[in-house]
Amino acid sequence: MGLSQRLQDGTAVFGVVGLGYVGLPLAIEMAKSGHRVVGMDISAEKTAEVNAGRSYIPDVPTADVADLAAKGLLSATCDFSRAAECDAVVICVPTPLNDMKEPDTSYMESAARAIAPYLHEGVLVTLESTTYPGTTEEIVQPILESSGLKVGEGLSLAFSPERVDPGNAVYQTRNTPKVVGGVTPRCTSEAVEFYGRFIDTIIPVSSTRAAEMTKLLENIFRCVNIALMNELLQVSERMGINIWEVVDAAKTKPFGFMPFYPGPGLGGHCIPIDPFYLAWKAREFDLHTEFIELAGKTNEAMPYYVVQRLMNALNDHRKALAGSRILVLGVAYKPNIDDMRESPAIKIAGLLRDKEAVVVYHDPFVPHFELAGVEVPSVDLTAEEVASADAVLLVTDHSDVDYGLVVRSAKLILDTRNALSAFADDKVVRL
Ligand SMILES: NC(=O)c1ccc[n+]([C@@H]2O[C@H](COP(=O)([O-])OP(=O)(O)OC[C@H]3O[C@@H](n4cnc5c(N)ncnc54)[C@H](O)[C@@H]3O)[C@@H](O)[C@H]2O)c1
Repeated sequence: MGLSQRLQDGTAVFGVVGLGYVGLPLAIEMAKSGHRVVGMDISAEKTAEVNAGRSYIPDVPTADVADLAAKGLLSATCDFSRAAECDAVVICVPTPLNDMKEPDTSYMESAARAIAPYLHEGVLVTLESTTYPGTTEEIVQPILESSGLKVGEGLSLAFSPERVDPGNAVYQTRNTPKVVGGVTPRCTSEAVEFYGRFIDTIIPVSSTRAAEMTKLLENIFRCVNIALMNELLQVSERMGINIWEVVDAAKTKPFGFMPFYPGPGLGGHCIPIDPFYLAWKAREFDLHTEFIELAGKTNEAMPYYVVQRLMNALNDHRKALAGSRILVLGVAYKPNIDDMRESPAIKIAGLLRDKEAVVVYHDPFVPHFELAGVEVPSVDLTAEEVASADAVLLVTDHSDVDYGLVVRSAKLILDTRNALSAFADDKVVRL
């Protein structure tokens, strides 16, 4: 029986390889559609949590995991031979950069190698990890075909970029349109039918490369525009112009403008990393992606700029950064989540330490934070704690913070997010 038939009669079993920020929400949506889902991960801790009916991803309610696990619709394992049970398998493992800022495809390769021996005829495999155009066919396809199955002859293969936006209360896995591109037209149509079981809107494109490039376009668009704002921030500051006011005014234009904001630097698993996947691949074609390189350079300089601005602000209070107590407010890479990956707070805290500042932090989502190799706990946000700091450095604008207390108690605040625009107070310095 083919995948299509098994999808229609509801007997198709789905597999998810990599149960992280992307994989777990996806597995939940799949299981909610009534299909049995096998989650596969190298982390015994995560698979045990799923089987115990507990969530470790803030956007995924524990009640959903518990309900679906109890119904037998969701289970997890470190045993990749269970890929044999699956009619469709989705791979969503990490795609980081190595120290040389080159793509590290080893996670994708080992995930594909782990499932390849167990794939059965008629199976669909899709890759969701963000990567450069060509990965699905150049890296994943040969590994999967080592099983003896060939794409177009018993194996379907497609790329479908994940667009999850952690912390977004409106757009989640189900209602975020999904782009799909297969190796062959049949691979595309099978992938469209598969995703259509649990995602509202599917957008087919002509190839895996087009689908891979779509995700990179989305992230490069953000990376370049944020860099532009970071450049304009520095020009505006020198000219005595409030850039945040300017963006707010510009965004009243009802067409042809989309607001982006400056900040302390890029964070997260996507925007600081994915553009360099394309920059690396472009070199194979004798091309240099100068916008990407320039944006990377501008954005990477922001933590240094923030520290310089903090030194200037302290100087105005006749203080040196060395020996000053700095309370870093918010360390996650964006508001209202606990994700620390690539957070600019990591770089900023390191720079502050290098300058011999005394660094403490508060983040309602991140109970521990590694500072110069030492794990330190988040301090309580009391009036005494805030008052004991020579400066508060607001890096992440979480909603669940008493900003009134911070402004009342602080001696000096450098606000890198314009989170305190409602407080007209001389001690608040805007980036
Ligand atoms: N987090 C996001 O907001 C987001 C958004 C869009 C796209 N993406 C992309 O999705 C992919 C996954 O990202 P994520 O945020 O879910 O990462 P994550 O680190 O949260 O999760 C990845 C999971 O894969 C597991 N894993 C690693 N190697 C494995 C292997 N060989 N076999 C099985 N499991 C393995 C890890 O244990 C982990 O549970 C990345 O390519 C990322 O760029 C992430």
